[in-house]
Amino acid sequence: MILAGTMMITVSCAAAPSVLAPASESALKTNGLTWIVFAIAAVVFVVVEALLIYAAVRFRRAGQSDLPKQIEGNQRLEIGWTLLPLIVLLIVFFLSLSTLQAIRNQPAFAAGASMEAKPLTVRVVGHQWWWEFDYPDLKIVTANELHIPAGMQVNLDIESIDVIHSFWVPQLGGKTDAIPGHVNQSWIKAIQPGTYEGQCAEFCGVEHGLMRLRVIVETPDQFQAWVTKQQAPLPSFSQAEAQGEQLFLTKGCVACHTIQGTTAQGKIGPDLTHLASRSVMAGAIMDRNLGTMENWLADPQAVKPGNLMPNLHLTQDEITKLGVFLERLK
Ligand code: CUA
Repeated sequence: MILAGTMMITVSCAAAPSVLAPASESALKTNGLTWIVFAIAAVVFVVVEALLIYAAVRFRRAGQSDLPKQIEGNQRLEIGWTLLPLIVLLIVFFLSLSTLQAIRNQPAFAAGASMEAKPLTVRVVGHQWWWEFDYPDLKIVTANELHIPAGMQVNLDIESIDVIHSFWVPQLGGKTDAIPGHVNQSWIKAIQPGTYEGQCAEFCGVEHGLMRLRVIVETPDQFQAWVTKQQAPLPSFSQAEAQGEQLFLTKGCVACHTIQGTTAQGKIGPDLTHLASRSVMAGAIMDRNLGTMENWLADPQAVKPGNLMPNLHLTQDEITKLGVFLERLK
């Protein structure tokens, strides 16, 4: 029964980002604890059910006038069934506490270790309804898509700009609240390259359900190549692209968005400096390509109702020019 139930859970979650498919050191610790607690609970369940069934059968009423033997109290039994659950709960408590410490406290950077081994720090900032990823040491700011190298410790400093969100990537790490004015720490050491989906896990307003993120774990070489691209200055623009840039700088976009190397330095919306290098947009709810960007520009509220970008009532010609420009921001 229990085994069949477990298998059903495992199978039905196979396609979704499952906590039962851990892919980082801390997620492995959480997963290990999950199975220990499950095993303890399974043993308790089987023993209690067996005793219950045994008692029901063995001591069932045999006839109308049949009264069971009248007994009163059993000191040894009572001490036993008080102490045993206490011991079990204490074991679970201390296992949980030590796991919590291990997944929460960022492992210290060993003194004397090479700078190569220094953990990467990423500031994770929750916004209604998207995620900002800021690499202060690398001078990179991106959105919705977190790139990290496999096999290396990445420290996360998690906070929020508006309301409480919760950073959660089931396969890589436990939920950590993103709280305005307070930094919560967590860390990820991903085991192997891959793409991992995450989701805001704290109700944060109308688009809470559409506040996702994607973590792209790369080999150290791939990650370094990504860093180099993100740090590159803007390319030189063709005439058509420059028309789009001009629209970007005059149509109000600059009030909310930053594009490094231009006068656009807004901080409310995502940094768009290397927008076209991202695979997802709008809180990672859709692929990012020319078509989805043009739909978004035409009416952001129709695409994701409630988001903070107003309809700028752009003409089709303006949308086309802006699209050409944005697609150049590799
Ligand atoms: Cu952010 Cu829910």
